[in-house]
Amino acid sequence: MSGPADAPIGVFDSGIGGLTVVRELLQQMPEEGIVYFGDTARVPYGTKSADTVTRFSRENALFLERMRVKFLIVACNSASALALPTLQREFRIPMIGVIEPGARAAAAATRNGRIGVIGTQATIGSRAYDAAIHKIDDKLEVVGKACPLFVPLAEEGWVEGEVAESVARTYLAEVLDHGIDTLILGCTHYPLLKDTLQRVVGDDVTLVDTAVETITEVQTRLVDSGLRRGGTGSGEPDLGESNRGEPGRGEHAYYVSDVPGQFRQVGERFLGHGLEPLVWVDQNDLPWYERGASR
Ligand code: DGL
Repeated sequence: MSGPADAPIGVFDSGIGGLTVVRELLQQMPEEGIVYFGDTARVPYGTKSADTVTRFSRENALFLERMRVKFLIVACNSASALALPTLQREFRIPMIGVIEPGARAAAAATRNGRIGVIGTQATIGSRAYDAAIHKIDDKLEVVGKACPLFVPLAEEGWVEGEVAESVARTYLAEVLDHGIDTLILGCTHYPLLKDTLQRVVGDDVTLVDTAVETITEVQTRLVDSGLRRGGTGSGEPDLGESNRGEPGRGEHAYYVSDVPGQFRQVGERFLGHGLEPLVWVDQNDLPWYERGASR
């Protein structure tokens, strides 16, 4: 018999970046089911206004709500920075963004109190990381830098080599000049470029991948609310009859709003396994959501 704990976790991003969060989810909680939505037709979010990102995020959340997810991960920093409070007000599903967990990890990691944050124009412009870090410790210094070209590089799979490295050197010179010892990858696309970024900043700078901390917190919240599949996560999961994956693994489904070719290629290389089923949902079929309408 399946119950609420057997429902999948919903994850959305503007494109493939949220797969960095999925990878961590698979690592920490392999028995959980996942429904992923990548808004590949409308990527990037990071160059768009708060109103537009909020509208897109609301539609994505509604799509996943209709998939009956038990928990929602806003696996996009731009959407977390600009739309999370609105989604939390309008939806009943428990949810989490990636900014506060990332801020906590950075505050714990820094030794000299100087933290760099790289992200999209939307995330850096919102100063959401500054606010979250200063809530923890207002003496920490935060220096932000928007790195918009990293998103198309990640979407294209150009994560290594001369071009990626030269773009990274140009962007990061400014934050490195501030003597940071910790750098938050404040965009879920950026962990795809992690090796290149680590080479450029050197081994003395700790890179914070917000996915790790986010998923750790999701796990705690699921356990606390009795929604963790298999109870506490320590016992055998009750996968119910609907499980289509291998024993002990949750079932997964991936949805994108444009042709899936590139998403499949880059995503499968990154996750190291096939993305099945991978379904293209026409953007016009995405749920239209009227604020305040009862659902
Ligand atoms: N993955 C998105 C984020 O974390 C960035 C990509 C975009 O601009 O849509 O902000």
